[in-house]
Amino acid sequence: EKGGYDHFMMKEMMEQPKAMRDAITGRCAEAGAFFSGLHLDEEMMKHINRIQIVACGTAFHAGMVGKYYFEKFARISVEMEPASEYRYKNPIVDKNTLLIVISQSGETADTLAAIRLAKDKGAWVLAITNVVGSSIARESHDVIYTNAGPEIAVASTKAYVTQVGCMLLLASYLGQLNEKLGKKDAVRVCNGLAKTPELIEMVLDTQEKIRKFADANHEIHDLFYMGRGLDYYTCLEGSLKLKEISYIHSEAFAAGELKHGPIALIEDGTIVVAVCTQEHVFEKMLSNIKEVKARGAYVLAIVQESHEEIGSEVDEVWVIPKMDDDITPIPTVVYLQLMAYYLAVARECDVDKPKNLAKSVTVE
Ligand code: M6R
Repeated sequence: EKGGYDHFMMKEMMEQPKAMRDAITGRCAEAGAFFSGLHLDEEMMKHINRIQIVACGTAFHAGMVGKYYFEKFARISVEMEPASEYRYKNPIVDKNTLLIVISQSGETADTLAAIRLAKDKGAWVLAITNVVGSSIARESHDVIYTNAGPEIAVASTKAYVTQVGCMLLLASYLGQLNEKLGKKDAVRVCNGLAKTPELIEMVLDTQEKIRKFADANHEIHDLFYMGRGLDYYTCLEGSLKLKEISYIHSEAFAAGELKHGPIALIEDGTIVVAVCTQEHVFEKMLSNIKEVKARGAYVLAIVQESHEEIGSEVDEVWVIPKMDDDITPIPTVVYLQLMAYYLAVARECDVDKPKNLAKSVTVE
């Protein structure tokens, strides 16, 4: 049932190229992204003046990436809140609100409560979920399925990459409805997404190096992740994955926040994962790296191939091929998933069923 792997989590990470393919298939036409069967169309979009994204945990991180894409491609401002916050704060919602919820299981109690609340106030609810016929799918007006296939491990992996892929497709679709995104750019998004299965494969092929890193470092007590823009969200997801399955304390912060607090925690030998895949802030990341290096940090940088020269500034470099900056969250997170996995294995943790956690949080 684990397909010959030791854990469901490994099986599911290995399934990510296929999951991405299934998430994209049938959703990229000659003129860019489209979703057959979606009620949300040009006419409806004319009335939407507020978009809110609500989710929990990993799905929330996919939502953050989505917010970035919606604002970039559709030029719509988006409000985001964890479902557990949204449901208890009388959010401003009316019939011109589009609520986008993201949930792998489609059964998360807080997310479901947020849907009910927004529907009562007249919002249009669009769900992005992995489970056909789930409560969230049934109670939403529109559904986009991630098509990742069943996810058994508590730590979400293949669901996350497909959620990010669907957010990018949706942002591109809304951008076209809004006439903010031209055909050329819409096609560029689809072409970029079409390459992700192969890009994920490349990262999956580097596992030996990641296992070695984990074997050498599994006794650490803390791990820090920093990045800017899309990389910041990837860091948040990597940090969540690590704490869930390895029980190592970790924090992810926006690299520009370094001087506003986190730098106080950097000491000799502290490992800092610096995710630097975004070209427009690459130089800024370099400065942040120098700041933590000056305090003795061991820096592991993740960069696009075109910036391999960063090796002279850091202790270790993991590379993704050169690609469009908007696509990098998908292959990059796979490095962080594998890192969390191998650290958990080296610490002899129960990877698939971490203590205190359930796959689906159906009670508050
Ligand atoms: O099924 P959902 O996507 O609604 O679940 C949300 C979170 O409970 C979930 O993502 C959780 O954070 C995972 N264990 C992350 O790996």
